[in-house]
Amino acid sequence: MRGSEPAEAVAHPNIALVKYWGKRDDRLVIPYADSLSMTLDVFPTTTQVRLQPHATHDVVIMDGALARNNARRRIVDFLDLVREQAGRSECAVVKTCNTVPVGAGLASSASGFAALALASTAAYELEYEPAALSRLARRGSGSAARSVFGGFVRWHAGAPDAPDPDRASFAEPLTGTQLDLALVAVLLETGHKSVSSREAMSRSARTSPLFPTWLARTRAEIGEMCAALDEGDLATVGAIAECNALGMHRTMETAVPPVRYRTRDSHRVLQQVRRMRRAGLRAWSTMDAGPNVKVLCATGDAPLVAEELKQATRRRVVVARGGPGAVLRGGS
Ligand code: DP6
Repeated sequence: MRGSEPAEAVAHPNIALVKYWGKRDDRLVIPYADSLSMTLDVFPTTTQVRLQPHATHDVVIMDGALARNNARRRIVDFLDLVREQAGRSECAVVKTCNTVPVGAGLASSASGFAALALASTAAYELEYEPAALSRLARRGSGSAARSVFGGFVRWHAGAPDAPDPDRASFAEPLTGTQLDLALVAVLLETGHKSVSSREAMSRSARTSPLFPTWLARTRAEIGEMCAALDEGDLATVGAIAECNALGMHRTMETAVPPVRYRTRDSHRVLQQVRRMRRAGLRAWSTMDAGPNVKVLCATGDAPLVAEELKQATRRRVVVARGGPGAVLRGGS
């Protein structure tokens, strides 16, 4: 990669089975606890970075429109970090194209910063190992650390007293699990949310009386989840994921002031999933920082689960499976 040839990368969103919720260090984006996710095979983000040696400022184009304010700021700050690490100073044009609805709790920031980390390191000629790339992506958005890898991925928080906290906090793929997990997403709302996940997470950690309990449970659930994935135990994976996600939502709903992402429609879907389970279908819910409900089930059951949810909600339903890690597009 030389001169002004663009570098292009593709990354996919991930869904956390044990959530990242709360930062110990805001600047370095270090979480309080480990989290664990599955990278999906839907909604990729494609990002191109082209250096502009004679330009005086960065240009950021998101889905065909010039990015402004906070969206632009986060990308320019990230480029500044990459330039600092590369010892370079050229400005760049960043073009990013999402296929996931932005800002609806479907992890567009995870695929976005994973793709940007890979494309920008290539453009600025930094050669990073996957763990280092994951640490870099983490600085853009925590969950992006996991989208660098495909399949099931664990993000290590790092020990609180680690001498170099940045180095200690990276994601890595889990090996050895055979579980064929699918995710059925019910798209209830795809507009921008009123409170960002970053703000909701910080408010929950600072003000929710339930946060310490949630954190302690999450630390235990990580080990339990790894064991269940190892054993291919879908029922335990599903039960832990559902409990963890609902616990996270209770921390936001008890924050001051509260953040309520769950709408009446979300509650209806959560109830429908419980009903389906009582009727013998093996399906469990999870939710992120938005109203959409995602349903975990075996790949073989996904068509039936999707059909039932479509009938019950009359909404768009998307079936996803495990997907690949971030890759550079050939020829760039
Ligand atoms: C609810 O990674 O978007 O999806 O690090 O502040 O950018 P920042 O947060 P972000 O938060 C994701 C939170 C979550 C849970 C998860 O993906 O683990």
